[in-house]
Amino acid sequence: MENSYVLYHDQIIKDGSISVDPEDRGYLFGDGIYEVVFVYDKKPFAFHEHFTRFEQSAEKLELAMPYDISTFKKLTEELISRNNIINGMVYIQMTRGVAPRNHLYERNMQSIVSGFAKSVSLDNIAASQSSGIATYLTEDIRWLRCDIKSLNLLGNVMAKRRAADFDCQEAIQHRDGTVTEGSSSNVFIVKNGTLKTHPSTNLILNGITRQIVIKLAQENGITVIEEAFSVDDLLNADEVFITSTTMEVTPVIKLLGSASKSYDIGPVTTKLQDHFKKQIKKNTSVVN
Ligand code: PDD
Repeated sequence: MENSYVLYHDQIIKDGSISVDPEDRGYLFGDGIYEVVFVYDKKPFAFHEHFTRFEQSAEKLELAMPYDISTFKKLTEELISRNNIINGMVYIQMTRGVAPRNHLYERNMQSIVSGFAKSVSLDNIAASQSSGIATYLTEDIRWLRCDIKSLNLLGNVMAKRRAADFDCQEAIQHRDGTVTEGSSSNVFIVKNGTLKTHPSTNLILNGITRQIVIKLAQENGITVIEEAFSVDDLLNADEVFITSTTMEVTPVIKLLGSASKSYDIGPVTTKLQDHFKKQIKKNTSVVN
């Protein structure tokens, strides 16, 4: 049966047969990290890139990595095949582990890995990619280590809820007028054929899709500037799109919130969508 096996430590077991300790620091403090990897035609996409970032997030939080990347890959592939996923996503998280509640963490704890896989309809993604999405401009209220893919996502989920309340599929966040990123995506603008996106600093998650899109743009003669841009730049952009594992390259056609604007889906966006599709077909590592 589909979607009925989960990952727990290094075992793939039947869903419903694991229990979670209430003193797991992931529950108490959001003390942990995660990755979302897409599956195309039964194969994980950009796996190495995702788990290199996972390793980096672990290091930044002093979380112990219980397995190496190749073990995580084997477990991910098993999760995909046991759940008969053809196209879909794999979610893997790692918490610091279980200990009596105390803000102070010990460095010698045993991390707890868990995960699941779900089928996803590529038709739904294709629909928003051809029609574009509405976005909601909102203040970035998150902490200052957005480079860590941590389980702490309250700022992100609040932004997403606010966007949805205005019938928008994504929030675009800004800090004091500087656009940072979406609630679960990176943001790009196009002006006079040139691509601009926030640099990879502590204020954004350095998206794997972002990195692939930058590389594909450069390989295809599109200039990319990784530089912070303002809400005014966003309003004056010729094209706007967002990138993420689950949304790929999705055009923005509307901005609501403290500013409002409509955009056409432009040639740079569609060109990058095509290049990204080709990359998916190859399904090989492109970053590094
Ligand atoms: N989110 N920025 C944020 C805050 C994100 O949560 C994500 C991804 C991205 C894009 O990263 P990538 O291209 O590596 O998916 C940027 C995932 C999909 C999620 O939380 O579901």
